[in-house]
Amino acid sequence: MKILLSNIRQLLQVRDEVKQPLRGSQMVELPILEEAWLLLDGDLIADYGSMRLNTLPEADQIVDCTGKFVLPTWCDSHSHLVYAGNREGEFIDRLNGLSYQEIAAKGGGILNSAELLQRTSEKDLYQQSEQRLKEVMALGTGAMEIKSGYGLTEESEMKMLKVARQLEENHPIDIKTTFLGAHAIPKEFNKNGDAYIDHIIKEILPAVAKEELADFIDIFCEEGYFNVAQMESIIQAGQQFGLAAKVHLNQFNSIGGIPAAVRHKALTVDHLEVMKEEDYEALQSGETLAVALPGCSYFLGIPYTPARELIQRNIPLALATDMNPGSAPSGNMNFVLSAACIKMKMTPEEAINASTINGAFAMGLENTHGSITRGKKASVIITKQIPSYGYLPYSFGSDLIHQVLIAGKEIRT
Ligand code: NIG
Ligand code: FE
Repeated sequence: MKILLSNIRQLLQVRDEVKQPLRGSQMVELPILEEAWLLLDGDLIADYGSMRLNTLPEADQIVDCTGKFVLPTWCDSHSHLVYAGNREGEFIDRLNGLSYQEIAAKGGGILNSAELLQRTSEKDLYQQSEQRLKEVMALGTGAMEIKSGYGLTEESEMKMLKVARQLEENHPIDIKTTFLGAHAIPKEFNKNGDAYIDHIIKEILPAVAKEELADFIDIFCEEGYFNVAQMESIIQAGQQFGLAAKVHLNQFNSIGGIPAAVRHKALTVDHLEVMKEEDYEALQSGETLAVALPGCSYFLGIPYTPARELIQRNIPLALATDMNPGSAPSGNMNFVLSAACIKMKMTPEEAINASTINGAFAMGLENTHGSITRGKKASVIITKQIPSYGYLPYSFGSDLIHQVLIAGKEIRT
């Protein structure tokens, strides 16, 4: 089935092969084809061209995009979309003055979600998660990463990862999974992080790897959670099974995790709300991508990741939602785009690059996602009639999407 999108006002993010994540001044360039057409053949992008120059190709269906903008779907490289229930109660506790860390210290937080998830059946967990997945696909997300980390036992970590794999099987969106067993120390381990890390490395990780349930490995490296040495052990253990690392770092404190993660060739370091000079220097010297999660800063009222400093220092930067019940209960990449511009002073071009091609790099999907390129997935957002693409971040909170196609399938009905 060939679908031709014709009369597109501007086709955004049109690129030939992109070999490296964008950094520095490359972030400002958003390649555009004015008055364009785009041909989708099945689940792939077949061709594109100018309405002015070319004769239109044959197609089974023609969609008139007069006055509309077309861009690749969002690549959300950091999410915890699979979870049970919610933590609205803790949200109210925070409004009444408790901090995120105080709630966690009382046994709430991640352990609260884990307790509920352990009691939730795989079927129920699937249904709750699928509802969220359908919502984010309609909001324009065409590829995403989903982490475990609310199981904290072999059985429940596997349950989460299986649900993520089933979601991918049953929906056109591409999903990468990350094993985050080291998200918090389970109560049974009595604050003994080393013993739990040992258990993860010897028992849970081999079981997860045997069933090929994970593409990446992750750990929450933070005061009160896991230290740098434990992070290094987890990254190395993951490498034994061919899992690259994507790690939670510098959310509340800078404790030396970034230099270590870069040394161990982590694919991404995520959060980075609190940064020291040595953290910047490590990122400048390596290949690791920075991932900023403005939805988390917004929701918790913590600092925003210093995007301007990262870009100015030539460090590749991606944007993601962090969708999770505790620190960012939203999977809306359109909001992330707005928050990145409004709060982190990124330009619309930088924010779109960080949410598409760099997001694809941040989950190893750069060959199939993140740009309008022949042979990549036919996953595109068609906007409503808007004055300019800068309207996307500018009109925060508005729904400016007319239609989303993921792997050639219409998502909005
Ligand atoms: O990325 N910081 C660690 N993990 C999640 C939040 C987990 C939770 O509060 O449930 C995050 O913010
Ligand atoms: Fe997270």
